[in-house]
Amino acid sequence: MKGLFLTLEGIDGAGKSSHIDALEALFKARGRQVTRTREPGGTPIAETLRTMVLAQPMDALTESLLVFAARRDHLVQVIEPALARGDVVLCDRFTDATFAYQGGGRGFDTALLSTLEQWVQGQAGGALLQPDITLWFDLPPELAAERLAGARLPDKFESQPVEFFRRVAAGYAQRAATAPRFVRIDASQSRDQVWQQIEAALAGRGL
Ligand SMILES: Nc1ncnc2c1ncn2[C@@H]1O[C@H](COP(=O)(O)OP(=O)(O)O)[C@@H](O)[C@H]1O
Ligand SMILES: [Mg+2]
Repeated sequence: MKGLFLTLEGIDGAGKSSHIDALEALFKARGRQVTRTREPGGTPIAETLRTMVLAQPMDALTESLLVFAARRDHLVQVIEPALARGDVVLCDRFTDATFAYQGGGRGFDTALLSTLEQWVQGQAGGALLQPDITLWFDLPPELAAERLAGARLPDKFESQPVEFFRRVAAGYAQRAATAPRFVRIDASQSRDQVWQQIEAALAGRGL
């Protein structure tokens, strides 16, 4: 069976983590092996880098290099072997988040991010390893902030002002316009409605 690489994207508080259990259950009910993971993170080295990136202020190039270093380790150790086994890989954030947060949010050079993407995700023959489908949870940053208020202790990004998340959201929108693998989910709806959109998105792509 061919592996399937599914990523969940969207600003903090958009509802990604709220739906990953149900996604795992859906694929397992169909007899698929599921590898569930997240970025930055997913390996001991990458989780260490995650802690550094989410806790400490640093310049945008340092941050970008660290998240791509974490991604490289994650791809080599976890994602590529899982896809080769035929697993469904459910990954909470991937490279689109780097374009949205470091590119959009922090205004870092997206051409340089594309170079790093080539280095880290380049395959034999020059193709890039990309997700097969990306569920993009889109909702107004104000609503995401309301949902997050009191829900958890904010990390470095989550404590940014709403203007930052407007730029991140714009970064996601820009990136989503470049590739048909993106499915926009209206994440402002109720949990049930969001789940229905996810099921419809998968069905619409024969998944
Ligand atoms: N559709 C929804 N309607 C209302 N609240 C939601 C919805 N989806 C998630 N939440 C709540 O919003 C907060 C952020 O959701 P979460 O899944 O952690 O977002 P993310 O993983 O994208 O940062 C949580 O407290 C969660 O319970
Ligand atoms: Mg989450």
